Amino acid sequence: MNRRNFLISTAAAAQTAVGQSSTDRVATGMIGVGNRGSYLLKAVMAQADARVVALCDNKPDRLDKAATAAAKDNPATMTDWRKLIDRKDVEAVYIATPPFLHAEMAIAAMKAGKHVYCEKPIGTTPAQIRELLKVAKQTNKVFVSGQQMRSMLQVGNAIRKIQDGAIGDILFVKAQRHASADLAYDGPSGDWYFDYKKSGGYLLEQSVHNLDACNWVIGQHPIRAAGFGGINLYKGKPAGRDIMDHQSLVYEYANGVKLTFTQMVFHPRKMPVNNQTINVFGSKGSVELLYSTNFYPLDGGEPTVLSPKVDEPGDAHIRAFYDCVRKGAKSPADVTIGATAALTAILGNEVCRQGKVIDWKDLGVEV
Ligand SMILES: NC(=O)c1ccc[n+]([C@@H]2O[C@H](COP(=O)([O-])OP(=O)(O)OC[C@H]3O[C@@H](n4cnc5c(N)ncnc54)[C@H](O)[C@@H]3O)[C@@H](O)[C@H]2O)c1
Repeated sequence: MNRRNFLISTAAAAQTAVGQSSTDRVATGMIGVGNRGSYLLKAVMAQADARVVALCDNKPDRLDKAATAAAKDNPATMTDWRKLIDRKDVEAVYIATPPFLHAEMAIAAMKAGKHVYCEKPIGTTPAQIRELLKVAKQTNKVFVSGQQMRSMLQVGNAIRKIQDGAIGDILFVKAQRHASADLAYDGPSGDWYFDYKKSGGYLLEQSVHNLDACNWVIGQHPIRAAGFGGINLYKGKPAGRDIMDHQSLVYEYANGVKLTFTQMVFHPRKMPVNNQTINVFGSKGSVELLYSTNFYPLDGGEPTVLSPKVDEPGDAHIRAFYDCVRKGAKSPADVTIGATAALTAILGNEVCRQGKVIDWKDLGVEV
């Protein structure tokens, strides 16, 4: 390609709409190539219709490692994320930085005309999420939030069957996300994880997946929540820590369904209860949603599998992102889904922090 054609095609690339990538391989830039970002990079490199043109991380060692992993695409590297977003040759941007940075970066990327894959949670405050929703709805670009459970076929098939009446009316959901230990204090995310303003704590940073699946199966977001939480085991670890190590929550939905949700980081690994569960109770019986999808009839009959395990080679959520960009497919986790998931976790955090029942509408965000 001569220089003139190159300039024309790169300028056009910045203006492509959904389903109209200017090239066969979507020019992709990645901001944040730490733990998750390096996984995403690998998954992007495995897509035949993607090429990595730019990488950004403010830690030079991570940037170097990512550049080596992406060497076949010879990407430009930079430590300033705004420079990546300013590049005309970048059509799609991945954001895998700490949570408090997501909304600002995603908004800037969308305003610059990029398609966006934004890791969860898509924001850490109602104000960030309100602004992100507004901007996303004004663009005709793809937005996929990193709520990748939405692309898991077995869970999705089970939820469709539940919504078609397989367990009768949904009455109650009991879910949890437990871990056996705190995240490593000197680990790759130790410099932001224990600061509530940066991560939103375990509930927002991790349980946002599980809460999203609960909303998905119930078919709506909660209308209010109550709960308690605190730090019982890891007080002062690390110094300045202000994220909780346990929370016990109840969410109420407009259709009368209640969700009880617990999060903790001292659930022994060998304790014979899955550390992550979503049990959905219906008028005909209940389903364990995350692993077996076993359906247990209320009449005492033998359990049956609601949704058989499906072999899913590669990363279905990343694949879905490029299908959105190149073929105009529907986003599996659009901005409304990402926003609703994050707000559900923020509501759960707020009830514990403020020590009172809080209504969804008091978050002040229309989803
Ligand atoms: N979808 C999933 O299953 C999943 C799994 C793990 C993590 N995540 C999400 O991915 C995000 C990152 O988590 P992680 O575990 O990779 O953390 P991490 O700390 O390993 O990586 C974050 C990276 O962002 C970089 N960074 C920070 N500020 C930056 C800035 N201003 N400009 C450029 N780079 C910057 C850091 O240097 C680091 O390399 C979080 O939001 C997390 O919730 C999602």
